[in-house]
Amino acid sequence: MENQSNQGRIIIFDTTLRDGEQCPGATLNVDEKLSIARQLARLGVDVIEAGFAYASPGDFEAVQKIAKTVGTEDGPVICSLARAIKADIEAAAEALKPAAKGRIHTFISTSDIHLEYQLRKSRAEVLAIAEEMVAYAKSFMDDVEFSPMDAARSDPEFLYQVLERTIAAGAKTVNIPDTVGYMTPSEFGDLIRGIKENVPNIDQAIISVHGHNDLGLAVANFLEAVKNGARQLECTINGIGERAGNASLEELVMALHVRRQYYNPFLGRSEDSEEPLTNIDTRQIYKTSRLVSNLTGMLVQPNKAIVGANAFAHESGIHQDGVLKNKLTYEIMDAQSIGLTDNQIVLGKHSGRHAFSARLKELGFELTDSELNKAFLKFKELADKKKEITDWDLEAIANDETQQA
Ligand code: KIV
Ligand code: ZN
Repeated sequence: MENQSNQGRIIIFDTTLRDGEQCPGATLNVDEKLSIARQLARLGVDVIEAGFAYASPGDFEAVQKIAKTVGTEDGPVICSLARAIKADIEAAAEALKPAAKGRIHTFISTSDIHLEYQLRKSRAEVLAIAEEMVAYAKSFMDDVEFSPMDAARSDPEFLYQVLERTIAAGAKTVNIPDTVGYMTPSEFGDLIRGIKENVPNIDQAIISVHGHNDLGLAVANFLEAVKNGARQLECTINGIGERAGNASLEELVMALHVRRQYYNPFLGRSEDSEEPLTNIDTRQIYKTSRLVSNLTGMLVQPNKAIVGANAFAHESGIHQDGVLKNKLTYEIMDAQSIGLTDNQIVLGKHSGRHAFSARLKELGFELTDSELNKAFLKFKELADKKKEITDWDLEAIANDETQQA
């Protein structure tokens, strides 16, 4: 069902506010979640998983507020996670009521290890619960997603059965999680192909993938899944999330963008098609990354692909010489394509208020006039002592001002 999959584009499902927030120290308050959700909408994600409505009153409120303010008719689908339990599904449905387009994402584990030690249930019991709870979620809204948790370590025959029954019960998206980040790319691709070939009604649902980065392979696994039929990718900004994190949105999107000619045929397009593979406005990537980093306090490592401080920096003389002659010598993508200014302005004591304010905006800060005045004075004081002011310095100054206000 290509028509359901976003005019043939790959659906970007952002779970920064749910799975992303599930990492130590990354707790966000409701207002912070709202400003991230607004920025995710500007970025162009198709689905925002806004939280786990049943988990806490704060999560419920965040899902509800995001549903109301960001979940407009032309905005993204707003989703809440729910265990395959009636009370969870009811909370999700209630919180999502204000959204023009809401989705309940319900899940239950299917691997034997989870069944034995965590759920203490038999396969037959899990199958019945999954089917019944998808149907229950469907009684509240049409858009229901089902995840067999730890799918990657589940017996494939049992997984096929669960997927067939949950699709028959009304799941429009079936999400295949590599919950513990165990898969390698070719294995994950085979898993998706096996699902396509062995679940008889799979054409009635979109295949989604969800993966953690325990072996640093989440993005590579997803790209292999796309080649084998996955059409929704669940990811987070800066790859934040449980343990080693989730697949990173910016890496996935830019891989699909930069290498679109390679991926086009897997989406049934001609190799030279220039049609974008996702709905993401890539020029919003850097700003979104900075906002999430600032609000969660999760620093981005300098050598992080796409959004790290060094991702577009050239240090060696040979590289600098090449880039000055022709950028293509050492750059596979344009800094502007992710929203950076082409030439990084190095801020120092001679810089003016305008350059200072523009850089803060690029870093995701919206300061009032009076905050900006005070921040600019601090910047000038620092610039007298330091030759070059880094983004870390600027963020410290801006955070200082916004927190005092
Ligand atoms: O990692 C996981 O399996 C999850 C599910 C709830 C989709 O986050
Ligand atoms: Zn997860």
